[in-house]
Order: sequence, then structure tokens, then C-alpha cells
Amino acid sequence: MPDVKTPNVKKETTDFLVIGSGVAGLRAAIELSNHGKVTVITKDVPSESSTEYAQGGIAVALSDEDEVGIHYEDTLKAGDGLCREEAVRVLVEEGPERIMELISWGAEFDRDGTRLAFGLEAAHSRKRILHAGGDSTGKELERVLINKVKAIHGIRRLPFTLAMELIVRDGACLGALTVSERRPAALLARATVLATGGAGQVYSITTNPQVATGDGMALAYRAGAALEDMEFVQFHPTSLFLPSAPHFLLTEALRGEGGRLLNARRERFMDRYHSEMELAPRDAVSRAILKEMERTGSDHVYLDLGRMGGDFVKRRFPRVYSTCLTYGLDITREPIPVCPAAHYMMGGVKTDILGRTNLRGLFAAGETACTGVHGANRLASNSLLEGLVYGRRAGQTAAAEATGLSKEQLALSFEPVPPQSIPAHDEIRGDIRRLMWQEVGIIRNEQTLLEAKRKIEQWGYITEKSFLTRRELELKNMIQVAGLITDAALSRQNSVGAHFRSDYPRKSAGWQDHITLRKND
Ligand code: FAD
Ligand code: SIN
Repeated sequence: MPDVKTPNVKKETTDFLVIGSGVAGLRAAIELSNHGKVTVITKDVPSESSTEYAQGGIAVALSDEDEVGIHYEDTLKAGDGLCREEAVRVLVEEGPERIMELISWGAEFDRDGTRLAFGLEAAHSRKRILHAGGDSTGKELERVLINKVKAIHGIRRLPFTLAMELIVRDGACLGALTVSERRPAALLARATVLATGGAGQVYSITTNPQVATGDGMALAYRAGAALEDMEFVQFHPTSLFLPSAPHFLLTEALRGEGGRLLNARRERFMDRYHSEMELAPRDAVSRAILKEMERTGSDHVYLDLGRMGGDFVKRRFPRVYSTCLTYGLDITREPIPVCPAAHYMMGGVKTDILGRTNLRGLFAAGETACTGVHGANRLASNSLLEGLVYGRRAGQTAAAEATGLSKEQLALSFEPVPPQSIPAHDEIRGDIRRLMWQEVGIIRNEQTLLEAKRKIEQWGYITEKSFLTRRELELKNMIQVAGLITDAALSRQNSVGAHFRSDYPRKSAGWQDHITLRKND
């Protein structure tokens, strides 16, 4: 055996630990900074997050034609009977205040003259989507929140620092084991807020950035926290389909402004599938596209902006226009080849409406959490709002409920982390992503799910190991999360919202139950 050097675990303490620097983590950190020293860790540069890439905008009932009650009803309808009503009420009622606060911190949303401009997206019965820079809303949110955090003296930011595991003793979370440049550290905290975002990277076709590997869900599960609704994965109907390009998102707002879907024969087809045509709920549009691809023997359909006018497209969607142009596609002249892609996790770490998990000292917010706001299917543009509203709530609760670390807790020592390695980890990563797309995708059934489960179990040994590299740690988490999505999808023997089982195509007995997964249950 070669002599493997085992790095020692450095120990540090902070009052509050926030894991993740997207909208939810940053908003939580700002709240916590009123109550003590905050450390925000993030595994890449601070802005690298789903938040940064959000295009369409942020839903909020602020226009003259809108009311919070209508936003509430639309959210419940999209959630297809599985939203927690109390959680939705909090979202829509606190949303306007959070947006006005963001504007007071410098957020510049697009305007018509002096009035805020509101866009329309699928399943919204009113124009209520605020946007910035046309289609760069998330970038504006990150800019404002990062600047705010930088201006607060009591917030320490540690980029390229990855949370490996949560530290749990006697049922309480005391912080996290982290790694930076292969050096492990224990960050002890009075309270920890998990805000690590989604898990789209578990699928081979996804709109999500590289950081979205489901780390928070996997860490929380291994630590004993309950996860809920993991079977509900939202597939966005329109991602760019070009051989040499990533699956760049083509915002729903393109359809909101009149974009039409055409099949490979360039025929409009949504009238065969849904009365709301292109503005039907996302799951319905994604399944319709899949069926139309099958019917016409094609691997994509088209999004046609022809009726919009080139100048309008360039002005309203500058990021989409210029990104497609870099891949040689002028969207003002030709229809865009598109296909559905994994986009958003409705499920996650189960929390109450104050951001509490079932572990003392552990709070969660944003896409990694499951407050029940989205039910079985998220209403477009509700997640940035959720990050603001519930990020703040998780921060408030964490501050209010944090107790001091005891002498014994402060004296904890940590074993050196044996640096193990998986030689073929990148191949396994590719295999698992393809497997999830093929067998646990938009349409599932018992046979495909059992096949996925069998294969995922073969990789189960990886979730028991400890690593010091980001790619291997992410793979460990992806395997864990893939297994949880598959188990939940197997358990739900009915079709509701984004979860469609071809062997149980309707809402049958038990469809209103939530599926909760907990280690050792
Ligand atoms: P994120 O913004 O993803 O942030 C997660 C953070 O956690 C990142 O900083 C990441 O580096 C860090 N992290 C992850 N794992 C670890 C770890 N182990 N250790 C340390 N740090 C870690 N929603 C809308 O409402 N409107 C939209 O227009 C919209 N458009 C979208 C467009 C795209 C392309 C995508 C991908 C999503 C879009 N969404 C949109 C969804 C929305 O952007 C996300 O749900 C939301 O931004 C999630 O915020 P978050 O703070 O929970 O997570
Ligand atoms: C989009 O712009 O279509 C994405 C909006 C969202 O996911 O909420």
C-alpha cells in the first residue's frame, strides 16, 4: 500500500453557517447578519448558481390588474392539488414586500415608462412577471444581493468551499465538514442554513448549471433529515437543441409573448393536446412535445418567434438572441430547435413555513427545500420569489432559535478524512445522468423505474465513501439523489403534476399523499 497522506481537519467556529450563495442563501445571510457572525460558503465563484441564469423573471402580485388572491389561486392550480396552502399564502402575501425591499437595495427591473413592466408566462392568469435586462432577471438579483452582502461587515464569504457532510450530534446539526483545495475543515455553527439549490445535473438533459448536483438534499438525507416530494421533477418544455450547444433555456416568456411550437413538419400541434395551447402548464407542454417528437420520428420540435418581429425579440430577449447567435442561429429569422429538459426540483428537504427541518439547528430554503409551496408542479417564476421570502424566513428562524455551542461541542474533534478515489467517476457520472433521463424522465413506469433502481444500487457503495475532490463528492450526492427520486417515483402509483406514470396515468387512490423519505425508515 502506498503511504497515503491523510490531511488533518482544521476546526473553526461561526455563529451562523449558510451553505450556498444563490438567492435563498444570500437573503438568509443578510437576515442573519443582524444577529451574529455569518459565514457563507459556496463551492464555486459566488455568483455561480441557478439564480444567476434565471431568465423569465420573478412572479409577484404588484400590477394594477393583479391581486395576491389571484396569484395564490394560480399557484394552487399549477401545484395540482399538492401545494401546502399555508406555505403558498406566505409566498404571495410576503412577496410584494420582499420585491420592494430588493428595489430599495438597487434592483432595476424593466419598466414601461416609469411603471414596472409585467410579463406573462404559462398558467398565470395575469401579467405578473417582473424582469430585468429583458431576460437576465437572475443576474440582476445576484448582483444586488452579492453587493448587499459585501457591504455587511459581519458576513464572511468563502468561495470554492464545498460542504461535504453536515455535522450532527445527538439529533442536532452543529455545522458542516467542508473541503477547499483538498483541505478538509470542520465549521461549527450555532445554526446552519442549507441553500444549495437544485439537482438538475442528475439528468443528462438539463437547463441547470454544473453546481446543481443536489448536494444539500443528499447531505441532509445522510444526516437524518426528512426529504419530501422527490418524485416531482419539473421538465421545462423548451431548451435549445443544437448538437454543438448546451441545453440553454429558452424562457417561457417567449411563448408568453406569442412564440409558437411547431413539429418537425413545421405544423402547429398544441391544439391536439391542451386547450391553453403553448401556455398550458409545463408538464402538459413537455409531454405533448415528447409525443409529437415520437409521432414525427424527430428528436426535437421548433419554437417559432416569426410573429413577434425581429426588433421586439432583440429588445425583449437580448440574452436569448445573442446566445443563440453565438451558436450560429438567428432566432429573428429561423425557428429555434428545442426539446424538454430537467429544470427544477419541487421536492427537497422538508421544512415548515419557518424554514425548520426535523433536525435541530438545521434550516433550509430555496430549491433544496420543500416547503410545499410548489406542490406537484411549480408555477413559472415562483422560485426566485420563494428564495427571497423563505430565505429571509429561514434566516429569521435560525437566528431566533440558535442556542450557544456547549463546551463539549466546541471541544469536538474530527477524524482525518481518508482520501479515497473512484477511478472511473466521470464515466459513472455520464451513465447515471443518461439512465435518469431515459428511465426516470418525463414519462416513467414500474419497469423503467425498477431498472433504474437496480443500476443505481450497483453504485450505492460510492455513497459510503469519503472524497476530497469536488467531482467525486458531487457524484456521491448525485447517486444519492437519483436513488431518492427513483424510490419516490416508484412509491407514487398515480400521476399528478409533473410526475407521470404511464402504468398509472390518472390521479388514483392516495394521490394527495406526500411521500417522505428518511434514512433508516
Ligand atoms: P441556487 O441559485 O442554485 O444556488 C445554490 C448555491 O449553492 C450555489 O451558490 C452553489 O454553488 C451552492 N452549492 C451547491 N452545493 C454546494 C455545496 N455542497 N457546498 C457549497 N455550496 C454549494 N426561477 C424563477 O423564479 N424565474 C426564472 O426566470 C427562472 N429561470 C430559470 C432559468 C434557468 C436556466 C434555471 C436553471 C432556473 C431558473 N429558475 C427560475 C429557477 C430558479 O433560478 C432557481 O430555482 C433558484 O434560483 C434557486 O435558488 P437557490 O438559492 O435555491 O439555489
Ligand atoms: C423561464 O424563464 O421559462 C423559467 C422560469 C422559471 O423556471 O420559473
